[in-house]
Amino acid sequence: MRKAAVGAAVVGAAAVCAVAALVVRHRMRKSSKWARCVSILREFEEKCGTPDAKLKQLADAMVVEMHAGLASEGGSKLKMLISYVDNLPTGDEDGVFYALDLGGTNFRVLRVQLGGKAGGIVHQEFTEASIPPNLMVGTADALFDYIAEKLANFVAEEEQKFNQPPGRQRELGFTFSFPVMQTSINSGNLIRWTKGFSIDDMVGKDVVAELSKALERKGVDMRVSALVNDTIGTLAGGRYSNKDVAVAVILGTGTNAAYVERAQAIPKWHGPLPKSGEMVINMEWGNFRASHLPLTKYDNALDAESLNPGEQIFEKITSGMYLGEILRRVLLKMAEEAAIFGDEVPPKLQCPFILRTPHMSAMHHDATPDLKVVGDKLKDILEIPNTSLKVRRVVVELCNIIATRGARLAAAGILGILKKMGRDTPRSGGSAKTVIAMDGGLYEHYTEYRNCLETTLNELVGEEMAAHVVFEHSVDGSGIGAALLAASHSLYLEDKS
Ligand code: BGC
Repeated sequence: MRKAAVGAAVVGAAAVCAVAALVVRHRMRKSSKWARCVSILREFEEKCGTPDAKLKQLADAMVVEMHAGLASEGGSKLKMLISYVDNLPTGDEDGVFYALDLGGTNFRVLRVQLGGKAGGIVHQEFTEASIPPNLMVGTADALFDYIAEKLANFVAEEEQKFNQPPGRQRELGFTFSFPVMQTSINSGNLIRWTKGFSIDDMVGKDVVAELSKALERKGVDMRVSALVNDTIGTLAGGRYSNKDVAVAVILGTGTNAAYVERAQAIPKWHGPLPKSGEMVINMEWGNFRASHLPLTKYDNALDAESLNPGEQIFEKITSGMYLGEILRRVLLKMAEEAAIFGDEVPPKLQCPFILRTPHMSAMHHDATPDLKVVGDKLKDILEIPNTSLKVRRVVVELCNIIATRGARLAAAGILGILKKMGRDTPRSGGSAKTVIAMDGGLYEHYTEYRNCLETTLNELVGEEMAAHVVFEHSVDGSGIGAALLAASHSLYLEDKS
């Protein structure tokens, strides 16, 4: 009896020890996994660092590249494309004009009636449609036929109030937001696609000729009077309402900037010197690259697996198409190496581009005490049912690192432009005001990003200068801007004088 009791006690003690050992091992495993998660996070944070000194170096590198791109064709990663816009809207533009805005996942068609001197925009209507993903990688005809058909339907709905003079051909400003080597204000050849488009039979072709053929096929009698990049449209639209607009920046699916340059500072321009002495330049800054750019292994892998490897590197760490995807890649690493979502790696987390920047923005802005929005997004998008608060906090921290890097880099780019224009320091005899027309979904909807961008630029230029640099959100600027430029290059312009 005694022996049996002792035996049972020994067995019991052994069992307790074994369980305790298991618990300890489990805890150790858990804590070493967590340590791995923290180390992935800290390493990523360090590699994404953008101290002010680095931003200033990048702004200087941007200025150097701007000069090189203006000096000769192919002189720099920055194409510094000549827009053939040497006169920005004055407010005298008059008549009914259409605009077609193509450049991201959606496209818009617009109709505006401009009222001439002091009349402003009398009427304005638009419709929006998404581009089916198969058309982004199909043929030029398929894409342009689809667009032309939507435009045909929109024209058919034009009401009397638009006062289109009978017998007059309708005119269109075409905002085409990809790199185009312009040959005139209404012609230009596509250099290459960006932002997930890849239509091989279109590269090198005249964009306006392709659109015009599609309009003809769909029976739309319309002349393309201006071909513009979205940055140029935004600059023109911004100038229409504010004469101090001199720079435009797009932060949306992709990113880019345009500014007003002195024509004499463009050695590669061999045309007649414009009367205004100015020319608007489409920088194509999305393709900027410099050794100081804070790139991580996640960015390099994203680039290598993209449709345009080696290109648009600045865009790939700054703009809306990519931020959510960078987040997904870091989370996947944490899931694989630190099991933050449990022993199995969630299958959805392995799908490229499943996590979009608007999801990231929603998680980043989550103000609930238990980060409920983060939990819900992880559940709805990645099908991860339960996540601890600790893990949700890591997700928010990652969003912050990625958005902060992007926003601060965009601010450095703007500082580069201000430097090139000689508007980065207070001038003797009173400072000029520089208004930067901003547009794009990332800027419009991602508040943390926008605030970080604006604060960073203010810090970089200093308090005194910051008072003279103003950000202005240009609503619908690029479409209206294209219509305005169609008006100032109208076929019927002489009729009015
Ligand atoms: C394009 C630019 C465009 C920018 C913003 C970039 O991918 O190359 O032409 O302005 O996106 O839409």
